[in-house]
Amino acid sequence: MAREDFADPSGKLEYHSREASSNLESDSGYKVSVKNFNSWFGTKQALKNINFDVKENTVTALIGPSGCGKTTLIRSLNRMNEMTSGATVKGSVFLDDVDIYSGKVDPVIIKRRIGMVFQKPNPFPTMSIFDNVAAGLKLNGIKDKKMLREIVEESLKGSALWTEVKDELDKPGMSLSGGQQQRLCIARALAMQPEVLLMDEPTSALDPIASSKIEELIHELKKDLTIIIVTHNMQQAARVSDYTAFMYLGELVEYGPTKQIFENPTKELTENYISGKFG
Ligand SMILES: Nc1ncnc2c1ncn2[C@@H]1O[C@H](COP(=O)(O)OP(=O)(O)OP(=O)(O)O)[C@@H](O)[C@H]1O
Ligand SMILES: [Mg+2]
Repeated sequence: MAREDFADPSGKLEYHSREASSNLESDSGYKVSVKNFNSWFGTKQALKNINFDVKENTVTALIGPSGCGKTTLIRSLNRMNEMTSGATVKGSVFLDDVDIYSGKVDPVIIKRRIGMVFQKPNPFPTMSIFDNVAAGLKLNGIKDKKMLREIVEESLKGSALWTEVKDELDKPGMSLSGGQQQRLCIARALAMQPEVLLMDEPTSALDPIASSKIEELIHELKKDLTIIIVTHNMQQAARVSDYTAFMYLGELVEYGPTKQIFENPTKELTENYISGKFG
């Protein structure tokens, strides 16, 4: 389904910043570009001058030991981090050619274009399977029942959950297994037709079979979107990602094609982490 098919007729789904001044724009050709990005919680710096570019229709894995800033970084990529009290940032994150931190960009629109899936599946507890997927659409004023049904079906197919739930869409979302709940959350994100999907350890609460379903799904989804995933699982990073970013103490130590990072890292720190010497 084309994006316009359920675009907000008021046009609010469009960037406010199309007319942004030229110093806020970049024509790098990358889907996401992080430039000189810093983040603090109070006075404590969590991200230190991060720079990297992400190509469209690729999967990028963020790896590194606990506390190195992976969650802070991924939550900064759709301005979710600023919802944490005391969190401040400096620097830019470009989506296509627009800095999402430009004052002219509406953070709500950013969150629609850059969706997020969390570590712990978090379906809306009181809602049915159907309503979990439709909730964001309804919030955006889409009332047409046929359109809602179509988008819900397409999103559940997109998250490889449709065949398992198509006859029980009215059941509570919470009645599903953990792995199904996570695919429901992915469907919920897909319903907004995001261009980028951020996933923070999406399989860490799942068993190996449910995890491998999500990994297969990531392979499928990258045909349509750009994915950035945090993972503690080195094998998972090697399996699902095209590019890998290794972080340590708030810095991006090394970034490159996954094969190179895993087989031939340029930094000793990366090699030590990948080979399990610390972490
Ligand atoms: N809400 C917060 N308030 C204060 N400090 C925070 C907050 N969230 C994170 N931090 C700090 O920022 C740093 C980076 O944390 P972050 O959660 O991004 O790490 P991480 O790499 O995701 O770790 P993990 O692998 O354990 O999930 C840590 O030092 C952490 O203590
Ligand atoms: Mg984290």
